[in-house]
Amino acid sequence: MPKKWSTKLIHSDAKVPEGFRSLSTPVYRGSTVLFPDAASVGDEWDQYEVGYTYGLYGTPTVLELAARVCELERGYRTLLTPGGQCAISFINFALLKAGDHILVPHSIYSPNRLFARRVLQKFGVDVTFYDPNLGARISSLLQANTRLVWTESPGSITMEVQDIPAICDAAHRAGALVVLDNTWSAGVLFDAFAHGVDLTMQALTKYVGGHSDLLLGSITARDKEMFDRLGSTQQLIGTAVSPDDASLALRGMKTMAVRLRAIGAAALDLAQWLAQRPEVELVLHPALPSCPGHEFWKRDFTGSAGVFSIVFRKEFPKEKVLHFVNDLELFEIGYSWAGVTSLAVAYDLHGNKNRPDYGHRIVRLNIGLEDVEDLREDLKRALEGMNR
Ligand SMILES: Cc1ncc(COP(=O)(O)O)c(C=O)c1O
Repeated sequence: MPKKWSTKLIHSDAKVPEGFRSLSTPVYRGSTVLFPDAASVGDEWDQYEVGYTYGLYGTPTVLELAARVCELERGYRTLLTPGGQCAISFINFALLKAGDHILVPHSIYSPNRLFARRVLQKFGVDVTFYDPNLGARISSLLQANTRLVWTESPGSITMEVQDIPAICDAAHRAGALVVLDNTWSAGVLFDAFAHGVDLTMQALTKYVGGHSDLLLGSITARDKEMFDRLGSTQQLIGTAVSPDDASLALRGMKTMAVRLRAIGAAALDLAQWLAQRPEVELVLHPALPSCPGHEFWKRDFTGSAGVFSIVFRKEFPKEKVLHFVNDLELFEIGYSWAGVTSLAVAYDLHGNKNRPDYGHRIVRLNIGLEDVEDLREDLKRALEGMNR
């Protein structure tokens, strides 16, 4: 039909050549998805089964990232969330109800712990926090109403590597599911489903994104039943993922193997060197025997990432530890990790009676892609500064 120019702005007849092929995934933006006819309209969430219905459930860019994460983690299917913490709260919302009980390790990423304490308990879910080193002994904490056992290996900041197969075994015998925060392994250094885990989540913000410029999360299910429970919840919670962020993550993913290899090697080198320094009491790096659960890392992991912690000797007061962090030139100070820039953050575990007695003496390092000798020099200078 003939159109006025203002209509042409919306319904154009302009044509571009077809057949463009490139190496990058196009960024498909869209909330409205067009149906071929009136009878086809339906708000089904499972785009894999019914085709595209609404942008909330993912445009092709978002679904491609989800499918690629799933391929790497070797699960059934993956759902993306706007951030890693969102993946955590989402799993809890999808799988729990009032009257259920869950187990959460003391070493878990702290907003995960706070969500359990401040939100889940408010909704009538009973939470028990457990020692991450329990392994099979976790069976003594499993109750008839335990639905979910959270794990994170290695744990945040204190880096305990968990005996995941033993925990899965005990949990499954008691009828509980095991969910793993698999962020440190980037979903590739630990094969979660082969070790018995039912559900994984990752902060794609970290190694998959890899450049500190996006926030995304993933949840990967081991089977269809689990994926259906999650997908139908997404429809109700309404967590949409930006295709632009998904596109950045797809780009980040292409270089993840070389980044992880370089970062992992530099981190291990520096961890071994730090273990020899007189200022350092303990290096919490999963590949070193000084790290709790090192034997499980050795047994279950295929490599190590770039995040680890150091604990200074007891004689160093808090000011000296903060001085060390401030004195570093190449290591920036900031949350999140797994980007190309090295970071250092001092933590204070005083007052947390359930965590190891590291007090104010623990500093977490994220190793980036700077030259390892420059990083060593930077650390050396700041360590020497502690003795002045
Ligand atoms: C182990 C772990 N899980 C989850 C998250 C949360 O991810 P996001 O920052 O994308 O919400 C983080 C963030 O630091 C993390 O370290």
